[in-house]
Amino acid sequence: TMYAPVEFSEDDYPRVEYQRRQQFWDPIRLALFTLAIVAIIGIAIGIVTHFVVEDDKSFYYLASFKVTNIKYKENYGMRNSREFIERSHQIERMMSRIFRHSSGGGRFIKSHVIKLSPDENGVNILMVLMFRYPSTDSAERIKKKVERILYQSLKTKQLPLTINKPSFTLTSIDSKKMRNLLNSRCGIRMTSSNIPLPASSSTERIVQGRETAMEGEWPWQVSLQLIGAGHQCGASLISNTWLLTAAHCFHKNKDPSQWIATFGVTITPPAVQRSVEKIILHENYHRETNENDIALAQLTTRVEFSNVVQRVCLPDSSIRLPPKTSVFVTGFGSVIDDGPIQNKLRQARVETIGTDVCNRTDVYDGLITPGMLCAGFMEGKVDACKGDSGGPLVYDNRDIWYLVGIVSWGQSCGLPKKPGVYTRVTQYRDWIASKTGI
Ligand code: ARG
Repeated sequence: TMYAPVEFSEDDYPRVEYQRRQQFWDPIRLALFTLAIVAIIGIAIGIVTHFVVEDDKSFYYLASFKVTNIKYKENYGMRNSREFIERSHQIERMMSRIFRHSSGGGRFIKSHVIKLSPDENGVNILMVLMFRYPSTDSAERIKKKVERILYQSLKTKQLPLTINKPSFTLTSIDSKKMRNLLNSRCGIRMTSSNIPLPASSSTERIVQGRETAMEGEWPWQVSLQLIGAGHQCGASLISNTWLLTAAHCFHKNKDPSQWIATFGVTITPPAVQRSVEKIILHENYHRETNENDIALAQLTTRVEFSNVVQRVCLPDSSIRLPPKTSVFVTGFGSVIDDGPIQNKLRQARVETIGTDVCNRTDVYDGLITPGMLCAGFMEGKVDACKGDSGGPLVYDNRDIWYLVGIVSWGQSCGLPKKPGVYTRVTQYRDWIASKTGI
């Protein structure tokens, strides 16, 4: 059956209704309505910024003091020595004990040792202290509070280090000064608002597999590109001018003038771009066995460190990571074997695997040499892949990041019992120093 549509004549249309609607949206009402909406949004943004930005502000102080119950050691002069790292961490732990457990302790963010220098009866310590206080507070008032908390702790707390009270000085510094002081320090990540980026932000977002990185999260990550052919490999920034990467990246082309290096979380657009001046391959790199898969690239002009460009720390050659240590690999490589390069930087949490396990007949059957390091999972799934080569495998020690591996090789990607194989950076510490002075 068909239904005939009801037909209206001109006069039957509900003209009055139509006119009312038209009247309601007259230009003045429309303008007022828009204005009201804009005002509401404006107020909402205002309230949010008031709480997020206005209410709390970072305050930075340079603390200098003498510790009298320890002796200065030669290696304290080298920031990547085990002695410097261990002593600094002890001091930083002590600072968080002093400030975290005090009244208003939630105001303390963190501290960083900048320098340890010799003193006739002890060690002089220079460090940065960071606090967050309401923006209405003054740097001088906070300074007084901080001093009070510290002096109180000297009297009441059992501290492992004896701080000489008269030697203690606290100087308020601005964020630029703080950044310059920390920029001289490798392996530190900062958000754009100058707040240290904690390691937990990387782990919490990873459910399984690889996640895209946030800006400033892996500021030492470099994309090495062949002019006209695009991204080939990853690399890590280890100074203002030097990159560390894999030797096999230069198999196709060793001519520095054909290469560029970019920084930032995307390949296009890059945050910073540089041309390459010089390429140094390890003299004993063997293509067939992947032995000594390490190379250096020098930039033609230096890069300035910022929250998106930063060097990673090189670990002391004596540092050894036990099996099952949590480490991160990052890169623009494909997410499946033979897949395309990714424009956004990705990261994956993997675990170190002992060489004994990795050399088992059912794993890599003796192919792992002392200059290599296995990382991944025996069940597979999470791994680096094609295009990640040369890129960093990093380890976080109390929010300072160390380059422990260089993406080198693997059988396919993410297969069970075929973890990623990395160049073991600690083995090449002296080689890097001999070529770069770093
Ligand atoms: N050689 C590869 C490259 O050129 C990287 C291999 C890493 N493979 C792995 N399964 N982890 O990008």
